[in-house]
Amino acid sequence: MPLKAKPKKKAPAVKRPANAAARKAARRFAPDTVSARDEGGSTMKNNVTFRLEKAEDRGAVERLVRESFWNVYKPGCSEHYVIHVLRDDPAFVKELDFVMELDGEIIGQNMFMKTVINADDGRDVPVLTMGPICVAPALKRQGYGKAILDYSLEKAAALGFGAVLFEGNIGFYGKSGFDYARKFGIRYHDLPEGADDSFFLCKELIPGYLDGVTGVYQTPRGYYVSDEDVEEFDKAFPPKVKLKLPGQLFD
Ligand SMILES: CC(C)(COP(=O)(O)OP(=O)(O)OC[C@H]1O[C@@H](n2cnc3c(N)ncnc32)[C@H](O)[C@@H]1OP(=O)(O)O)[C@@H](O)C(=O)NCCC(=O)NCCS
Repeated sequence: MPLKAKPKKKAPAVKRPANAAARKAARRFAPDTVSARDEGGSTMKNNVTFRLEKAEDRGAVERLVRESFWNVYKPGCSEHYVIHVLRDDPAFVKELDFVMELDGEIIGQNMFMKTVINADDGRDVPVLTMGPICVAPALKRQGYGKAILDYSLEKAAALGFGAVLFEGNIGFYGKSGFDYARKFGIRYHDLPEGADDSFFLCKELIPGYLDGVTGVYQTPRGYYVSDEDVEEFDKAFPPKVKLKLPGQLFD
């Protein structure tokens, strides 16, 4: 069943803007982080390490994701449930499911899923999509996000994956070599012609991988979760106040 035919109550995960206004807004980033940027560039500490997520990290990672995304794109968030679901998805790449530690404490995570570009010539071109990616709220805008992003992209390239496409802010991802997917001839699924597609980004991990490819990128179905399921899952976490804040993409 194509994504657009999914039942109405299945809302896309937060990072998948559902309408033109939201897509435009997707170019902005976490509003709580923008003003906190240090003037002097990265203040990241040296004792940062990266490793694969272990089964016993899952709870801590979901709590971290919830804290990091909470009230950023909508009142509350769904990414902690999304990551919970994606780990069991056949498209999940467990070799690229990373956490970042500072002094032994998990302060960031990133993960990847396999998907395809439905090429105009009939091929399905395998690519990766990425996220959720996050950093602990208190450590945002200090270089940690870029550090885990670059580390995980390097590992994805080493595994032989050809390209990564997803929705994000060029202000952050552009620093790690992402560009607008349209420049590679790739279109976002279900986006009307002429609509703002600047949220849709791409990076080749194998130079030239997308040469001669035009087509439509597909968001893996695992990212689509229902509000009801998120609400139910969230009950297992400490209560947290949902706030409607300026800059959020969804109600
Ligand atoms: C998004 C997130 C992972 C970025 O990590 P971070 O540690 O805050 O970002 P960094 O400090 O590593 O920033 C790296 C570069 O991107 C830029 N950047 C970061 N956030 C940005 C923003 N909101 N707008 C524009 N540029 C931004 C920085 O200027 C920096 O470049 P510089 O060092 O040359 O100045 C982090 O803020 C986060 O966890 N946010 C909440 C969850 C989220 O939104 N995840 C992404 C969903 S698509």
